[in-house]
Amino acid sequence: MKFTYYGQSCFGVNCNGKNLLFDPFITPNPKASHININQIDADYILVSHGHGDHIADVEALAKATGATLISNFEVGEWFRKKGINKIEAMNLGGKKKFDFGTLKCVNAIHSSVMPDGSNGGNPMGFVIQGENNFYYSGDTALTLDMQLIPSWAKIDFAVMPIGDYFTMDAADAARAATFVNTQRVVGVHYNTFPPITLNTDAAKKIFEENGIELLLPAIGESINI
Ligand code: NI
Ligand code: MN
Repeated sequence: MKFTYYGQSCFGVNCNGKNLLFDPFITPNPKASHININQIDADYILVSHGHGDHIADVEALAKATGATLISNFEVGEWFRKKGINKIEAMNLGGKKKFDFGTLKCVNAIHSSVMPDGSNGGNPMGFVIQGENNFYYSGDTALTLDMQLIPSWAKIDFAVMPIGDYFTMDAADAARAATFVNTQRVVGVHYNTFPPITLNTDAAKKIFEENGIELLLPAIGESINI
């Protein structure tokens, strides 16, 4: 499965022939200035919550690609008012079978508000059962709720924040991987802003000590996962 990192928590995966793009925040991210968003193709744009560092390019990319937006109800309705009409405005606990696989919305411990102050609903993570099964936690603290995830799907890899301050740090994310029962984690949500500066060597060591592989693709890099 092809996985491309676009910085902060933005990544794309190709799942059963469909392009899924998560939490697009590219044009305002100076670390991603070499990424041309006009070259990003998406069939689905998945949004974990309403914060700017997860939604900045949703409107432009949804309009350019005709992708379907998948998010919580409040985020979806906010984008509907911006003229996006292909929307799956789901909510926590819900699942749906798509052409790329089955997606389930799961709990994340964080906050959510839209850039204009509108209610951003509850933050979410996603469990996707497709070509591979994977879990994207969204911005979240470590939570025991993650222990439920292996009862829904055997997770091949997880995408989780490791930058601390706003979310889990690397040690909590390594523990989250054991809750989720996966041996492979792609770390995101680090080094974009000063408070989330990461010592990548220390982070890799923490994961190694727990027998978990930490993947940190460069911004713009594609890996096979
Ligand atoms: Ni956030
Ligand atoms: Mn964030």
